[in-house]
Amino acid sequence: MTKVLYITAHPNDETISFSMATGKAFIESYKAAHPEHDVKHIDLYDTFIPLLDKEVFSGWGKLRSGEAFETLSETEQQKVARIEELSDEFAAADKYVFVAPMWNLSFPAVVKAYIDTVAIAGKSFKYTENGPVGLLTDKKALLVQARGGFYTEGPAANYEMGNRYLQTILGFMGIPSIEELIIEGHNALPDQADAIKAAAIEKAEKLALTF
Ligand SMILES: Cc1cc2nc3c(=O)[nH]c(=O)nc-3n(C[C@H](O)[C@H](O)[C@H](O)COP(=O)(O)O)c2cc1C
Repeated sequence: MTKVLYITAHPNDETISFSMATGKAFIESYKAAHPEHDVKHIDLYDTFIPLLDKEVFSGWGKLRSGEAFETLSETEQQKVARIEELSDEFAAADKYVFVAPMWNLSFPAVVKAYIDTVAIAGKSFKYTENGPVGLLTDKKALLVQARGGFYTEGPAANYEMGNRYLQTILGFMGIPSIEELIIEGHNALPDQADAIKAAAIEKAEKLALTF
């Protein structure tokens, strides 16, 4: 069965957030078009995403040196096991939909924390004699991002670091097809905000039929 991860990184819901409204329109339309697919929502603001901290590294270090999982401290076990769970889930999925606003030219920090738990050698990529090779070569991804200004073209085009990073790291994992759904310019042109949002929602509903 096709497994879709709907990964949202926003403290607000679709009534406030443009990216969440567009993401919701996409995923509802997707589910209606593909009722047999398994869509799982990962709300990065409402689930445990361990940071790669001292305990994670000490836990991994103990396992690498041959110690049994049970000898790890309780917190080491919790964090290491959760990272294993998240990376396995990511590797087993077929499609990914990331929904995140632009904050300070990038995405909210929880997105990077999540990426750090799934960019694991042996799960989403592997090291070979010829360097790292992505393992997720039969997957596809969509990046939904709302940003108040304009970055698709114009003087700020090179300043966008959120989707650019996701494109790069997901490409590094081997994902060959990464589409983007951008909502932009509504803060720069507030009188057009409603129209910009409505156009994005319409686009999202259509894209869901072919994604
Ligand atoms: C903390 C924060 C940082 C922001 N940084 C940027 C930015 O760097 N560039 C930009 O164009 N808009 C920026 N904005 C505006 C948001 O990108 C814009 O409001 C967008 O609609 C956010 O997505 P949302 O509607 O899903 O919350 C920022 C907003 C916040 C709250």
